[in-house]
Amino acid sequence: MTCRLVILASGTGTIAQAIIDAYELDIKVVAVLSDQIASQVLERAKTVGIPSECIPVGNSRELWNIEIVEKTAAFEPDLVVSAGFMRILPPDFVNRFPTINIHPSLLPDFPGAHAVRDALAAGVLTTGSTVHWVDAGVDTGPIITQMQVPVLPHDDERTLHERIKKIERSLIVTTIALILPKLEQHV
Ligand code: GRF
Repeated sequence: MTCRLVILASGTGTIAQAIIDAYELDIKVVAVLSDQIASQVLERAKTVGIPSECIPVGNSRELWNIEIVEKTAAFEPDLVVSAGFMRILPPDFVNRFPTINIHPSLLPDFPGAHAVRDALAAGVLTTGSTVHWVDAGVDTGPIITQMQVPVLPHDDERTLHERIKKIERSLIVTTIALILPKLEQHV
């Protein structure tokens, strides 16, 4: 059965685009949700006719926590993919929806919002990307797949992150393909 998938993203959405373009996957992207009104990912969704919505964090984080659960539930997802979503999801969310996240480091190394910068600062020769199940922690859930990327001598944060994102666009698609049969039992 076709997997109903909701994408969460805050930024340019190139990873989201790779999922949208993955016609080989038996998925239907039923919504793209963002916390940033100016996020390019919302435009990408509109271009291909996927319902999209911005859910900004207003004055109350508690209200947002409720809103993100309710708005996501309305799309009845079988799987949620956090693809560059820069918010911690509340426990109610991750307990309710199977959710995966893609993170630009080889977890458990360099969790958090500045993974690429932190890897450069640490002087590692190899970094990469990780796709993991999301739990209530910050980049702590069980690892599903990882891919290495070498750090080159003249890399800065931008060049290194671009090379990581290049492999992330295929890593996310192969990882979704890998977990779809496991979700089948619940779909
Ligand atoms: C990716 O590096 C992803 O691992 C991280 O945010 C970035 C999203 O890139 N969580 P984009 O906005 O999809 O281009």
